[in-house]
Amino acid sequence: MSNNIQLKESAAVVSDQRYRLNYHLMPPSGWMNDPNGVVYYQGEYHVFYQHYPYAPIQGAMHWGHAKSKDLVHWEHLPIALEPSEAYDSWEGGGASGCWSGSAVEDDGALVLMYTGHVDGNTPAEVQCIARSTDGLCFTKEGANPVIAASPIADCFGFRDPKVWKHGEHWHAVIGSGENGIGKALLFRSPDLMQWDYLGPAAESDGTMGDMWECPDLFPLGDHPEDHVLIFSPMNMGKTKTMYWTGRFDPEQAAFTRRVAERVDYGFDFYAPQTMVDDRGRRIMFAWMNIWGAKMPEQEDGWMGAFALPRELKVAEDGTLRFLPVEELRQLRSGHRHIGETVLRSGEAVSYPGLQGDSLEIEAVFRVSPGASEEASFGFQVRCSEDGREYAEIAYQPSSEKLIMDRNHAGAGDGGISDMQISPLGDGRIKLHLYIDRTSLELFVNDGIKTMTNRIYPDAGSTGIRLFSRAGDAVLESLDVWTLSSIWNGKEGEA
Ligand code: FRU
Repeated sequence: MSNNIQLKESAAVVSDQRYRLNYHLMPPSGWMNDPNGVVYYQGEYHVFYQHYPYAPIQGAMHWGHAKSKDLVHWEHLPIALEPSEAYDSWEGGGASGCWSGSAVEDDGALVLMYTGHVDGNTPAEVQCIARSTDGLCFTKEGANPVIAASPIADCFGFRDPKVWKHGEHWHAVIGSGENGIGKALLFRSPDLMQWDYLGPAAESDGTMGDMWECPDLFPLGDHPEDHVLIFSPMNMGKTKTMYWTGRFDPEQAAFTRRVAERVDYGFDFYAPQTMVDDRGRRIMFAWMNIWGAKMPEQEDGWMGAFALPRELKVAEDGTLRFLPVEELRQLRSGHRHIGETVLRSGEAVSYPGLQGDSLEIEAVFRVSPGASEEASFGFQVRCSEDGREYAEIAYQPSSEKLIMDRNHAGAGDGGISDMQISPLGDGRIKLHLYIDRTSLELFVNDGIKTMTNRIYPDAGSTGIRLFSRAGDAVLESLDVWTLSSIWNGKEGEA
């Protein structure tokens, strides 16, 4: 398919900038969901995403495309895939089209593997290949679909291929489900065209969802068999993304699990996908929204954003660490540092000039033993002057619970996210928060857990308040930077 897509309608228009983000990737207009085909290709980071360009709704799925040299500044490129064939047909109605998938480099070419999805009572899902030699224009293979049917006759979904190379062979995991059990099905190919089914690489034990969307399976760790599996389980309560670490041999098709954990503890983090770059870093992208949420930006002609790229590392105990990529530091300006401060019980502290809607905050608190059950400390951000609007991040030492409360944070859904966090060995709690105009991403204790939420406060709500309740708290240090916009005025203005 060429770049010169015949527009079937005119592209959506962003009518109001109020919810646009300053340093996150968003579609130019229209709808965005999952990251697709994240890949380091010919010296640049390429990302694709589920996209409907004509309205901010989940319509016929296209693949939007953007690239970056530094994981921070992004350039939008022409749409890479649009529905055009019987197997990914626009005519199927609903969200029929080019569903999620991945990208690899094969002998200099950029190859996309994606799911052709045709809506219906029993949706048809098949796997397809498209190639490019310039990283811009993609041609769908005449032999598509390359996997024409699921190996499981009565499956609940068969989609989202994630491809990687192991030795001489290509491997792919594909998300599926059977009799209430979510699965990642493993396939192998010599050439990306002929695929053999090897069996499930992993499946739910009955408690981890009935369909695994967007599985990703990759080596990470010292031993060649150390692997990580990531998936987005459907129907697993408030758990939207999971990771497993353990041992995996792609020729054996069976994952031996050591750790199972949530990837993120917020409401708005879904369908993560990873890639390796030229420095050998394993980097994860994700959709910073969730199906079924209120999406106030739809009123303005757009919807969807990527979370910040996170580098993944595996710790000795097999848990992962999630770290914002170091390139993001180039956005910092206007540093403010506040040294050790005792926050008195019941006090709310703010500092003149310390405010904003585009900030990075590193706050270190010290937890001392013997806190009362009611004790909590933390900070409120995006505070309005009248005190009515704010989002709160609070730690409760007695229960070792960290919460993010967005019940007073403007338009959009409310709700409180929570997660268990033990203080570090020296009693410290480290909170690293990225605030963008409509998002909060929190990295705790050097990335042991993260929490990502969208909020839609009034543009004028920019205050920050520190607090302690039912006991004093020690703030060891607070560092705040203003983060610049990545759009050079191209996106930021109304
Ligand atoms: C996950 C998902 C995928 C699918 C795509 C469709 O969010 O449902 O399973 O391929 O979105 O847009």
